Amino acid sequence: MRIDIITVLPELLRSPFEASILKRAIEASLVEVYTHNLRDYTSDNYKSVDDYQFGGGAGMVMMIEPIDKCISKLKNERQYDEIIYMTPDGETLNQSIANQISLKENIIILCGHYKGVDQRVRDHLITKEISIGDYVLSGGELGAAVLCDAVIRLIPGVLGNETSALTDSFQDNLLAPPIYTKPREYKGWKVPELLFSGNLPKIEKWREEQAYKHTKEKRPDLLTDE
Ligand code: ADE
Repeated sequence: MRIDIITVLPELLRSPFEASILKRAIEASLVEVYTHNLRDYTSDNYKSVDDYQFGGGAGMVMMIEPIDKCISKLKNERQYDEIIYMTPDGETLNQSIANQISLKENIIILCGHYKGVDQRVRDHLITKEISIGDYVLSGGELGAAVLCDAVIRLIPGVLGNETSALTDSFQDNLLAPPIYTKPREYKGWKVPELLFSGNLPKIEKWREEQAYKHTKEKRPDLLTDE
């Protein structure tokens, strides 16, 4: 998979890819991630990427031209399956969307800033709009990093244990069951006995029941979603 991120703040998108799972995925060539500084696609001396709103109103708007130039250059080099715009009024990211995106070959992620982008970018260039939650960030970069993390860990081979992404919370619309490790007892707090029984079918059944119980208690909405 190849991910091209268009941003005015490429420095915000360095550290998420320089540690742990994302770093290893890049080193293993399971994913390629490139950032493109929108200012490199401007045509004036000030490298302007935004301007005042037509019709008046507070806040600057990101202009079409640099965005179109950057996207066009990328599209001339390869085909893209999805051109995603990070915005608080997009579809809220969930595991199902992350799963769908993880199957794509090449994607572009455009990070918004200021009041957002000229609507014509959204109407003519963007194929998907994603929000990471009902709150407003200063820009789309942190959202793009969240999206990349959620997607990249689903690419086959990225996680050490192939099954572990399948047992994450939200796969199957259920939260994950409780997990335990050593010590067996700490300050009198015990690990459920069943986990030492060696009875794998029984343990599996317990985990399923726990996952259902947790979901019902904490996120009943997940059980009613289609
Ligand atoms: N940009 C600003 N707020 C955002 C959000 N909640 N999700 C994605 N991109 C954003």
